[in-house]
Amino acid sequence: MQKTFDKRGYWGLLIAVATLCPLMLEATGAKKSAARPAAQGSVKAGKALFDQNCSLCHFPDQTKTKIGPGLKDLFKNKTLPVSHLPATEANVRKQILNGNPSAKPMPMPPFKPKLSEKDLANLIAYLKTL
Ligand code: HEC
Repeated sequence: MQKTFDKRGYWGLLIAVATLCPLMLEATGAKKSAARPAAQGSVKAGKALFDQNCSLCHFPDQTKTKIGPGLKDLFKNKTLPVSHLPATEANVRKQILNGNPSAKPMPMPPFKPKLSEKDLANLIAYLKTL
């Protein structure tokens, strides 16, 4: 009983810190962030999301196919590796949200209900560094 509570308290604290820190930084660093474009995702959070959700099927550091195409240089290339659509944020978002359930030989699952808008922004910030 006591143990479970401790665990929950710990996670609660972690979540509170994770949510409050960026808000506090934003409030104190308002001047600094005004110089940057709005709604920048966090590369660090994006990498964690990638490791959890994407690395099973995608290499981040090479273009070789794992189950899906390697995503190195994803945004540096003009076009996406499989669909050859323009390598824009909108097209990558669409791929992540909708997946490609009919792709052969392997489908990509949709992440629509699983990833929030914030997750998506973080993930894309990370993908842009590949
Ligand atoms: C179960 C395996 C699997 C997972 C997990 C997965 N993908 Fe994919 N992905 C694929 C496959 C297979 C393709 C190639 C077929 C296609 O275009 O959908 C692909 C294609 C892509 C493409 C290229 C699309 C194009 O238009 O060329 C991108 C970008 C991509 N995935 C990003 C991601 C990201 C980001 C994640 C994590 C949120 C992810 N994928 C998770 C299997 C996966």
